[in-house]
This record gives sequence, C-alpha cells and structure tokens, in this order.
Amino acid sequence: MTNKVVIANFKMNKTIRDTKEYIAELIPLITTSKVVVGICPPFTAIKSAEHKLKATNILLGAQNMHVEDKGAYTGEVSGEMIKEAGASFVILGHSERRSIYKENNILINKKIKKALKLGIKIVLCVGESLAERGQDKTEEVLNVQLSEGLKDVYANEMGNIIIAYEPVWSIGTGKVPTNEQIAQAMQNIKDTIKKLYNAQIANSTIVLYGGSVNENNSKDIASIKGVSGALVGGASLDAKKFAKIISNFS
Ligand code: PGA
Repeated sequence: MTNKVVIANFKMNKTIRDTKEYIAELIPLITTSKVVVGICPPFTAIKSAEHKLKATNILLGAQNMHVEDKGAYTGEVSGEMIKEAGASFVILGHSERRSIYKENNILINKKIKKALKLGIKIVLCVGESLAERGQDKTEEVLNVQLSEGLKDVYANEMGNIIIAYEPVWSIGTGKVPTNEQIAQAMQNIKDTIKKLYNAQIANSTIVLYGGSVNENNSKDIASIKGVSGALVGGASLDAKKFAKIISNFS
C-alpha cells in the first residue's frame, strides 16, 4: 500500500528564522512513519531548511521554478537553483500562479518537462474555479489541465509526478467541497490519467486534495476514496496544526 503524502505550502510566509523554528517544532511532533511529509518554504529559506531536515525523512520542495535554465529573467529562480538549494520537488500549476501570474497549461507543461529533466519531482495542481463548477465544467477543466499539462510526459516519468486537486474556490476560503464532490474529482482525475496512459499508472498515481484542509476536517478528508494525502496552505503554517493533519492521514 502506498504511504499517504501530506505537503505544507508556506506560500509567501516565513523567514529563514521562522522556517528553522518551525522545523525544530515540527520534527518531534511527527509520530507516524506512515505519512510522507513534505514542506515548501519560500526560496530564501530552502537552503537553511535543508540543514535542519538532515537526518529526517521530511522532503523539501519549492513553490515554483522558472522554465529556463538561466538568463535575463530578473527576479526569477531556475530549477537547477532550487535543486542546488536542496529541493527535491516543486509545486507547479498552483492556482495562484495560474491566476496572479497568468501561467497557462503550455508554460506549466514546459516547466514539468524541465523539472523532469533535472530530476526534480513535481506536484501538479489542477482545479476548477467557482464559475466553472457552477457551469458544470469541473470534469472538462480537470481533463484539459491534465492533458495539456502532461503533454509529452512519458509513462515511465509519471512516478515522479503527484497530482493535487485544488478547487480554486476552496483555497484559503474555509469552503471545502462535499466528500462526494472530492471523490468525483478524484475519479475524474484517475479516468483522465487512464485515458492518457493506462489503468496501472492511473492506479499508482498519487492524488492529493488541497483547499482549506485543517486539523479538524483532515480526518474526514483522509477517508474519501481516491484521496492519497493533502496539500496544505494556511493550516500548515502552524507546526502543531500541521502535525495533527499528518497524524489524521496516518
Ligand atoms: P489553503 O491553501 O490550505 O490555505 O486553502 C492550499 C493551497 O493553496 O495549496
């Protein structure tokens, strides 16, 4: 049986010092080995987080990377740079990147292929907006985001990619879809992967739920069919709450 995966996305929160303190607080609070835990601090804190995480099984990720290797891209950070800093995986296609920074599926696909080339694992975020759900377009949106995002990604590379289903209307809002809605989205994602690849890859692909996951609702979310873990924003900023979420997934 695959372990569960629970990942913290700090977004633009926590300095180097905050991140070190957080890790020191979190490590003794994790009492299960059944959950793969990852944390994604801001770029600036990755290197010092790496030092703090040595001798633990906690994985370190980045929240984004640029598609090019280097060049005149003021303010940007490349895959090679996050890898050198200590990140073994990267979140790509997060809805905040899609909406605020206008990242589309074509760019996200290029970033995925770059990360794969560099040996960086990927958490690919997909999810519908409230308007799209209202128009009954959830399945279609997931289908397009996955098929365009994973274009030309080979079957033998899919083991390096985790999918996170994050309905945009649920991120940071406290609004969580019903268990049935989440289960349906998980099924849609598996069906699409099956169409793009095959049943075995669809079965083995880890799919997380993300959007207002907290210490109180995580046990229930963990019980939903198809949910292999969570991508946690706001509630992950507090080590005690994040540890509780990890234990609720064990
Ligand atoms: P949230 O964010 O847990 O604060 O809703 C989740 C995410 O954006 O990954």
